[in-house]
Order: sequence, then structure tokens, then C-alpha cells
Amino acid sequence: MLRFGILFSLLILNTSAIENGTEVCTSLTTCDDVLATKSEVAAVREEQARQAAILEGLDKKLQAFVTNTYPANCAESRNSSKLLVRVPSYSTYPFEVTCDQESHGGGWTTVLRRNDGSQDFFLEWKDYQKGFGQLDNEFFIGLDKLHAMTSSEPHELLVLLENFYGNQSYELYDNFRVGPESNNYTLESVGSFSGDAGDSLEYHLGRQFTTKERGDCAKGFQGAWWYYNCLHSDLCGMYGEMQGVYGIIWSSFRTGEFMDMMKRAVMLIRPATFSTAA
Ligand SMILES: *[C@@H]1O[C@H](CO)[C@@H](O)[C@H](O)[C@H]1NC(C)=O
Ligand SMILES: *[C@@H]1O[C@H](CO)[C@@H](O)[C@H](O)[C@H]1NC(C)=O
Ligand SMILES: *[C@@H]1O[C@H](CO)[C@@H](O)[C@H](O)[C@H]1NC(C)=O
Ligand SMILES: *[C@@H]1O[C@H](CO)[C@@H](O)[C@H](O)[C@H]1NC(C)=O
Repeated sequence: MLRFGILFSLLILNTSAIENGTEVCTSLTTCDDVLATKSEVAAVREEQARQAAILEGLDKKLQAFVTNTYPANCAESRNSSKLLVRVPSYSTYPFEVTCDQESHGGGWTTVLRRNDGSQDFFLEWKDYQKGFGQLDNEFFIGLDKLHAMTSSEPHELLVLLENFYGNQSYELYDNFRVGPESNNYTLESVGSFSGDAGDSLEYHLGRQFTTKERGDCAKGFQGAWWYYNCLHSDLCGMYGEMQGVYGIIWSSFRTGEFMDMMKRAVMLIRPATFSTAA
């Protein structure tokens, strides 16, 4: 320990001496050691600097590659049914999405799909934040991505529905935006709407997203949604024809006396500029 202490202080002394252009080395026995160590240290430093420069260069190349390579959504890659997108406000790195390039002019990025009941949707907050399910089948993209995408620029929302009798309908919203985690992903905007399903979403405007461990509506109706008191729609409800109020609901879409349960439900988003540019 003591020897290291001496060596270290000599190293510092020696440094200040060399800076003056004259080498003042008074303790002759350790002087050679010190000079040798010093040059080794200098060599290692030089090597580190060289490697740091290489790393920085590679990182810049990677950033440029990532930035230039990936589209931000399905509207920017019109022939893709599946692709990697990059949303800078979400992450530097891309993630995979599926696209609908046919419905209502195409260019849609899928954010939710109910199809056959294979995926449990009665899940917790952290699951809804991150997203879950099978990209090609039943899934939810996740609230963090939904917020990042819809707040990056104005987005449209297209809801496609089909009941258990094969009746299909849709509703289109022209300004759909989901808030950040800090306001519990509040449904901040839906815009104006049109379609043959009828509006069942505006009722939920300004409401926070809740999951089963965070609210009585989610617990009671066995889903997750922007519940108010409690719901006019819930596309994250239980799957099945006989679920009643616990089911996948869009209350304005009914072919008979009662609400229809949805056999298929899809939520798609697209930048609003897509329609005006077309
Ligand atoms: C180094 O030079 C400065 C002036 O440039 C002087 O004040 C100092 O005493 C010198 N130190 C040694 C160790 O020679
Ligand atoms: C999509 O279109 C681009 C040109 O716009 C082309 O380079 C690419 O190969 C196409 N991809 C597929 C899967 O057709
Ligand atoms: C978000 O939800 C949590 C859990 O219900 C609650 O404690 C918190 O106050 C909510 N945040 C805001 C901003 O309302
Ligand atoms: C849709 O529902 C109506 C009842 O409102 C029914 O008569 C009709 O056959 C259904 N259409 C299809 C395509 O299933």
C-alpha cells in the first residue's frame, strides 16, 4: 500500500515536472519505474481515445442508418402488410406492425385486433402499457406506442366491426389522440366521425384508460378501456357471442333489439395528412 502511495505521488510530481519541459527526477531509484509506468499509461490512453473515436463513428453510422431506413407508419410504405416502423418519440429503435392497405384507402397501422378469442384481454396496466398478443392475430399495440404515434401528428382512427351474424360496419374518427402515461393515457381527442356503425367512442372522450386493478368499471365489465360511467364501447371486453355487457361492445352497432357482440373488431390509425394528400 505504502509503495503504491509513493509511486502515485511521484507520478503526479513527475507530470508537473515534465510539463515544464525539464525532467526533474529527484528520487533516482523509483524514477525509471515512474517513467515506464507513465508511458504505459499514455499508451493505454491513446488506445482508448482511438477506440472511442471508432465507436463514436460507428454509433453515428448506426443512428443515420436507423433514421433513414424505417418508415414511421404503414402510410409511408404502401405495399407492406407487415413492416418495421420507427417512432422517434417512442424509441430510437424500430418495432414491428401490421398494416391494412385495403380498407378505406389503405395506409393503416393496426393497433388492436380481436378475431377469435385466442388472446386474453382481461389484463393489467403494465400489459396494456407495453402491448401484448400475436401481431398476426389478436393483439394490442400498447398505450406507450399509441400515445407516441397519435401525438406525433394528427391521426385518424378507423374502427372495423363484425358481429356473429356476419354483419360488418365501420366508424371513422378524424382526430384520434391518446395522452401520455402522466395522464393515464387519456382519450384526448376523437374528432368528428362518420360511418355506419355509429359513434360509441365520443362518450369516452377525456377519460383515462383503466385496467382491472385500477377501476371498478374495468373490474366489473372484465375489460380495459377509457371507461366513464361505465361504457358505450369496449373493444377490450371478453370474447364470445353470449358475453352480454361483458363482451366486445360497440353499443351503437345493433342489428336487432339488443347490442351485438363483436366477433371481429379492429382499430386502425393513419396520419390525417394521408387523406388530404390523396
Ligand atoms: C514550471 O514553470 C513555472 C513557470 O512557467 C514555474 O513557476 C515552476 O516553478 C516550474 N516548475 C518546475 C517544477 O520547474
Ligand atoms: C415496395 O415498394 C418499393 C418501392 O416503392 C420496393 O422497393 C419494394 O421492393 C416493395 N416491396 C414489396 C414487398 O413489394
Ligand atoms: C392515474 O391512475 C392512478 C391509478 O388509478 C391514480 O392513482 C393517478 O392519480 C392517476 N393519475 C392522474 C394524473 O389522474
Ligand atoms: C345483417 O343483419 C340483418 C338483420 O338486421 C340481416 O337481415 C342480414 O341478413 C345481415 N347481413 C349479413 C350480411 O349477415
